[in-house]
Amino acid sequence: MNYQYLIKAAKELRDPEISTILNYWGIEEWKHFDPGTFKEKFKESEFHLLCSDHSDLLSVGRINFKFSINLDGESWPFAELVGLVSIVKQKGFARKLLKEIQGNLHSRQIQSIGFSATDLREFYRKWGIGILPGKAKDLFEKSGDNLIESEDDDILLINVNGNHLAALNMLSPEAPGLLDFS
Ligand SMILES: CC(C)(COP(=O)(O)OP(=O)(O)OC[C@H]1O[C@@H](n2cnc3c(N)ncnc32)[C@H](O)[C@@H]1OP(=O)(O)O)[C@@H](O)C(=O)NCCC(=O)NCCS
Repeated sequence: MNYQYLIKAAKELRDPEISTILNYWGIEEWKHFDPGTFKEKFKESEFHLLCSDHSDLLSVGRINFKFSINLDGESWPFAELVGLVSIVKQKGFARKLLKEIQGNLHSRQIQSIGFSATDLREFYRKWGIGILPGKAKDLFEKSGDNLIESEDDDILLINVNGNHLAALNMLSPEAPGLLDFS
């Protein structure tokens, strides 16, 4: 099957694409977003799409640029791959999309990570994504005075090298990082 790999800003997505994405993400509080709300909320993201020849969505991932990790007072910006979902499953589309995303971010020299629960560790490993097992648990999000532990387990190395990789490797329960989405 032929496919197209496209990158769109939120404002370039067609209304049916937005409703398909919201439907497959399945996040209750976002499900009823109208296209305008969606475009505003994700205006700092890119949507990486795998589509059929007939422009049907097969798989999608969001790259969030509003993201960094604070480690020991130093801020490390990463592009965050989030919301990877296949509309048509078990046909190799997520694998193809991951490969395209990796190639694209590598050519643009954009340091990028994602997160995953352990039950998908083998999926990512199988498709050649580097993994820092368990390291997502060394990352916390600030909510008021509280620190919230990540729900994910692993950090996925979508495109990471040099000092960024060294910084992630320093994460530990004794030296945790702070997630910053501002
Ligand atoms: C995970 C997901 C994106 C995979 O998409 P997909 O297009 O079906 O995946 P592909 O067809 O490219 O790859 C399928 C392969 O991965 C394997 N795979 C899929 N889910 C797996 C899992 N949980 N654990 C191990 N392997 C898995 C399949 O066994 C298959 O391997 P095979 O080809 O050797 O049989 C899809 O199941 C999905 O949309 N899930 C819901 C959202 C989600 O969990 N996203 C990930 C967030 S981190």
